[in-house]
Amino acid sequence: MTEPLDGETPSVSAIAPLCVLLPPHASDALHAEAQHWAEHLGLSLVNLEEAQENVLHLVPTEKGLELWAGARRPEGVARVNFMRRAASKSKASRQPLHRAVGRKAISVVDATAGFGDDSIALAHFGHEVFALEQCSPIAAMFQDARRRALSVEVTREAAQRLSIENADALHRLRTLESIPDVVYLDPMYTETGRNTRALPRIEIQVLRRLVGRTDNALELFNAAIDSGTSRIVVKRPISAPPLIKPLAAQHAGKLARYDVYDPRVFKQKMNLKNSLPTSGISS
Ligand SMILES: C[S@@+](CC[C@H](N)C(=O)[O-])C[C@H]1O[C@@H](n2cnc3c(N)ncnc32)[C@H](O)[C@@H]1O
Repeated sequence: MTEPLDGETPSVSAIAPLCVLLPPHASDALHAEAQHWAEHLGLSLVNLEEAQENVLHLVPTEKGLELWAGARRPEGVARVNFMRRAASKSKASRQPLHRAVGRKAISVVDATAGFGDDSIALAHFGHEVFALEQCSPIAAMFQDARRRALSVEVTREAAQRLSIENADALHRLRTLESIPDVVYLDPMYTETGRNTRALPRIEIQVLRRLVGRTDNALELFNAAIDSGTSRIVVKRPISAPPLIKPLAAQHAGKLARYDVYDPRVFKQKMNLKNSLPTSGISS
C-alpha cells in the first residue's frame, strides 16, 4: 500500500432522514416492492399522509425507484436515467469523458457512481464498467434501473457491460479481483470550489442531503493508486484547480473537466523522495 497523499481534513454535514413511501393507489406488486426496500435498506415505510416535508422519500413506481426531495413529487425527483445516454446523438469520440478514459481502455472502475450518469455513459462508449457506490439507497436505485435497462433493447447492451456494487471504494479499490485499466473518480466536493454558474441538478442536491459533503477526494485518489491501475481520471468543476499535480492530460467539456493522471508518477515520487507531493485541492 502506498503512503497516503495529504490533504484537507474531511468536512461532514448532517445527513437527511430517508423513508420508503408507498405511492397512492399502489398495485399489490408496488406494495410488495415498497416493503422489500424498507426491509432491505432498514428504512421506515410510510404512506402519503405520514410523509414529512423535510424527509427524503424513496418511492417505488412502475418506471423504477424514485427519490423524492420532500413529501410530494413536485418538490423534486431524482432518478437513474439510462435512456438519456441511449438517446444522445453526440459521438463518443467527441465526448471529453471518453477521451480522458481513452479509447483503448477496456475495464473502468467508477469508484463514485452516484446516480450512474457517468457509469452509463462509459458503458455506452463500450467500456466494461464496475460501479461502486457507498450509499445503499442510491446503489439500490442504480441496480434497479440496470435490471430494467436489461429488458429494453436500446439500453440492454450498455446495461450488460455494467455491474454495480454497494461498497466503500476506499476499501474495494484495494481488494479488486483484477487490475482495472482506468479508475474514474467524481467525488463530492465542499460547496466552495464548485462552478457557481452551474447550479446542481436535483440529483446532486439530494445526494448532498443524503451522503453529506465529505470531501474524501484525496483518500479516493490514494485508493485508486493502490488499485494498481495505470490511469486515474478525476472529474472537476470547469474552473476548479486540479485535485493534485502533476497532470498527464486535461479534457474540458462545457461544465466539467476531466483530469488524467499517471499513477506511476506519484508512486515514484513517494518511493524515491519519501516525501509527499503538494496537494492542489481546492478549498
Ligand atoms: C458527485 S457524486 C457522483 C455522480 C456520478 N458521477 C454520476 O454521474 O451520477 C459522488 C458519489 O460518490 C459517492 N462516494 C463518495 N465516497 C465514496 C466511497 N468512498 N465509496 C463509494 N462511493 C463514494 C457518493 O455517495 C456519491 O454518490
